[in-house]
Amino acid sequence: MKKENLLITGANGQMGSVLVKELQKIYGEDHVITSDIRTNENFNGIFEILDVTDGNKLNDLVKKHQITQIYHLAAILSASGELNPIQTWDVNMKTFLNILEVSTVNAIDKVFFPSSIAVFGKNAPKIKTPQDFVLTPSTVYGMSKVAGENWAQYYFKKHKLDVRSLRYPGVIGHQSLPGGGTTDYAVDIYHKALAKVDFECYLKNDRTLPMIYMEDAIRATVELMMAPKENINVRTAYNLSGMSFSPEEIATSIQKIYPKFKIKYKIDFRDEIASSWPSSTDDSSAKKDWSWKPHFDIDQMTEIMITELKSTNSKNIKV
Ligand code: SER
Repeated sequence: MKKENLLITGANGQMGSVLVKELQKIYGEDHVITSDIRTNENFNGIFEILDVTDGNKLNDLVKKHQITQIYHLAAILSASGELNPIQTWDVNMKTFLNILEVSTVNAIDKVFFPSSIAVFGKNAPKIKTPQDFVLTPSTVYGMSKVAGENWAQYYFKKHKLDVRSLRYPGVIGHQSLPGGGTTDYAVDIYHKALAKVDFECYLKNDRTLPMIYMEDAIRATVELMMAPKENINVRTAYNLSGMSFSPEEIATSIQKIYPKFKIKYKIDFRDEIASSWPSSTDDSSAKKDWSWKPHFDIDQMTEIMITELKSTNSKNIKV
């Protein structure tokens, strides 16, 4: 069997830090090259400092480690992006174009590019938003993802580069903290519940968004990347569903375990972003092409989140 060597950019991030461990299990620690703009002592295995806006450094690392697959997770998310639109466009686009060019020149086998529900805009149907609905994003982050999806398809058609992509919902996991996203509240709320403090939510109580439990998000990524090439019919990015809920509903789910837990609301600009996104998406293409099926609903997720965060907290308490 051919030896695969994987490069993960943005490995320190919310998804990266969990995906790396899963890929290390599959491919072996020596075959997963983790990278980020800052060092990270939490990884076993190989780590390289990499700012992906530096195409030459990227090219050097790809050659040095004989990379065959790239998972490009480095990006600025939706809420941070709105605070610095031009820089967000520059970073998100320049990094991805560098990945596509370097991958083509070095004949990389497969590239993973995370897209997002943020590609959709206010005009899209809120419920079960179709895969092929016209994309009119409201944020710079969403605009960079739409452009990225189209560049992915372009490189596939023009250079036969096997780029695969998912439109992630908000990702919720106990292992890592998100940063700069609009859906981050749904991770933060568990930390507050555990600390036994009220949670102040920046989204409206009934602002329903598509979400996914981390384990499902990681499995979707691995299943998509392992699917036979001829099954991948969507070369922009697949809609991907896990569950959907509002702040009120996640609070209710937490109250089943912590009845005294309270949520209050202080709406900010992130609610405007969320109001332009779907409440759920139609992921029948993912189901058909590579048999996607989520495993976790909101109450199962709440139980695991609280159990795992409790156990992490107790390990961290120094006696
Ligand atoms: N979770 C992301 C965000 O909130 C959306 O892809 O920005």
